[in-house]
Amino acid sequence: MKILVIGAKGTLGSAVVEELKDIGEIIQASRTHADIKVDITSPESIQQMFEEVGEIDAIVCTAGAAHFGPVEKMTPELNRIAVESKLLGQINLVLLGLPYIRDNGSITLITGILMDDPIVNGASSAMANGGVRAFVSSAAIELPRGIRINSVSPNVLEESLEKYGPSFEGFKAVPAKDAALAFRKSVLGAQTGQSYTVY
Ligand SMILES: NC(=O)c1ccc[n+]([C@@H]2O[C@H](COP(=O)([O-])OP(=O)(O)OC[C@H]3O[C@@H](n4cnc5c(N)ncnc54)[C@H](OP(=O)(O)O)[C@@H]3O)[C@@H](O)[C@H]2O)c1
Repeated sequence: MKILVIGAKGTLGSAVVEELKDIGEIIQASRTHADIKVDITSPESIQQMFEEVGEIDAIVCTAGAAHFGPVEKMTPELNRIAVESKLLGQINLVLLGLPYIRDNGSITLITGILMDDPIVNGASSAMANGGVRAFVSSAAIELPRGIRINSVSPNVLEESLEKYGPSFEGFKAVPAKDAALAFRKSVLGAQTGQSYTVY
């Protein structure tokens, strides 16, 4: 199996790569330090990545940025960060990647707990998460050739507590390897249209 992991060197992505490495060949992609360079905010960059990578069995995305800040101070430009990266960036991976996915392949995208359990400053990220989840459940019923699509919504990761902990008081952090298991279920399982929560 040939698996393309976008965001592979990140906190979550590196745990996902570790979890999936026994399945087959993993191609790691991101803007820097990867097998293949891609910026998911650019459709041209995404297209170029797929042309370089060729046919694959699975697309896994653990990349997607958002601005964190108060709604009262959120400008349309700041909100666009999540729109262009976490929301459209991931959806464009689906739209542009479909022709490169082999029959019965899969796509797994990343969302996050903020869409279900809000925190202060998290509205823009929550917006993107909810949009990705809705797209996944709708797209699943019409993807061709047995291709499946799911998303994974982790709680704050234990590995990220130092960075994000103060924003997540009272949340039960999960190890990145637990979130990575949901990606394994999506890649190797039979389900489609799911949002796997790791809460
Ligand atoms: N950490 C958590 O507690 C947590 C919890 C729930 C959900 N999530 C979600 O999981 C995702 C990953 O989080 P993380 O903490 O693992 O982040 P991270 O450590 O910053 O890693 C992000 C990865 O994505 C790549 N990336 C970022 N922007 C990109 C772009 N425009 N195009 C291509 N690659 C890009 C980065 O590499 P380059 O910089 O080289 O591009 C890096 O490999 C995020 O969407 C986050 O919201 C995280």
